[in-house]
Amino acid sequence: MIGIISAMQEEIQALLNELKNVTTTEKGMRTYYSGKLFNKKVVLVFSRWGKVASAATTTQLINDFNVEEIIFTGVAGAINKDLNIGDVVIGKNLFQHDLNASPFYKKFEIPILKKEFLETKNSQKIINSTNLFIDSYNKYIKDSEAAVFNITAPKIVFGDIASGDQFISSIKKIKKLNKALPTAICVEMEGAAVAQICYEYNIPFSIIRIISDKANDNATIDFSRFANTIASNYALGILKNYFA
Ligand code: ADE
Repeated sequence: MIGIISAMQEEIQALLNELKNVTTTEKGMRTYYSGKLFNKKVVLVFSRWGKVASAATTTQLINDFNVEEIIFTGVAGAINKDLNIGDVVIGKNLFQHDLNASPFYKKFEIPILKKEFLETKNSQKIINSTNLFIDSYNKYIKDSEAAVFNITAPKIVFGDIASGDQFISSIKKIKKLNKALPTAICVEMEGAAVAQICYEYNIPFSIIRIISDKANDNATIDFSRFANTIASNYALGILKNYFA
C-alpha cells in the first residue's frame, strides 16, 4: 500500500477521479480514500495545510493503513529565479524554515533528532517517472490550460525545499529565505513535516512539488488559479509513470 498525500482537495481531485474500488475511512477530520490507482493499491488523503496537519495525517497513514511508502504531491512557490510556474521540483533535502530553537539548538535543527534537514532516499524512481511525464505532458495538460500560465517547456529539478507554516508572498521574504537557506529553491507548507515523520518511522518518502507561483506579490492569485486547475493533472501524469 502506498500513501499519497496532498494538502488540498483540489490537488488530489484528478487522482480521486481515477481511483477504482474506493472505500473511505473517516479519522481525525480527514477522509482516507483506499482503492486502486493505475492498478496499485493506494490510500489517498488531503491533509489540509501546514506542518501539524500533514504530520498528523502522515502518522495516521503509517499506523492505521500500513503504508510502505509515502508520496506527497502538491504545489510550491519558487524562490529561485530559474524556476517557472509549471516546473516540477522533486525534494532532495527538506528544511523547516520556521524552526529555530536557538540557543538550545542551531537554527533549523530539529530538537532531539539533531538534524537540520531530512534527505529523501528513494527519489530516483520518482525523478525517472517525472522525466517520462514531461515527455507525455500534453496528454495530461491541455494547451489552453498551460497557456494561462505561460508554460512552454516545464523542467524537472531535484532540489532542496523549505517548508514552514507561512504562505510566502513577498520579495522581502524570499530574500530572507535565500540568505538563510541558500540551497532551497521552493517553499511550501508540509514537505519537511512529512519527511520528519517518515524518517522517524523509517518509511521511504518522496516530495513532488509543482511550481504554482513565484512567492511574490502575485503569488496568491497564481497559486489559487494553478491549484484549482492543472495541479492535480500533473500529479496524475507523474504517478501514472511511477506506477507503470
Ligand atoms: N505553496 C504554493 N505556493 C506557496 C507559497 N508561495 N508559500 C508557501 N506555500 C506555497
